[in-house]
Amino acid sequence: MAKITFVRRTGQQETVDAEMGTSVMEAALDNDIDEIVAECGGSMSCATCHVYVDDKDLGRLAPPSDTETAMLEGAAAPVKPSSRLSCQLTMTAGLDGITVFLPEEQY
Ligand code: FES
Repeated sequence: MAKITFVRRTGQQETVDAEMGTSVMEAALDNDIDEIVAECGGSMSCATCHVYVDDKDLGRLAPPSDTETAMLEGAAAPVKPSSRLSCQLTMTAGLDGITVFLPEEQY
């Protein structure tokens, strides 16, 4: 198991356990983090699983693929250098303790 902390717009934090190999998006859905919509179910065709990764964790992530970067351009909330699609962030021991901030909107 690995920990993921979701930070809501209000500043409220929720830390959840995720199985290795699951995505941050799946962990959000499993734990009723409503700000993650994930309309396409993780097939990288909706951008409604947008999150902002905490700066402290950015160096632990593989860079986004060209497809992910292109999809992020369609995200409803402003795209920042820390923007990622949470369906593309797969939990490994190296990501234990990651923090992601939830955007204002997904549509
Ligand atoms: S769930 Fe649709 S792009 Fe991530």
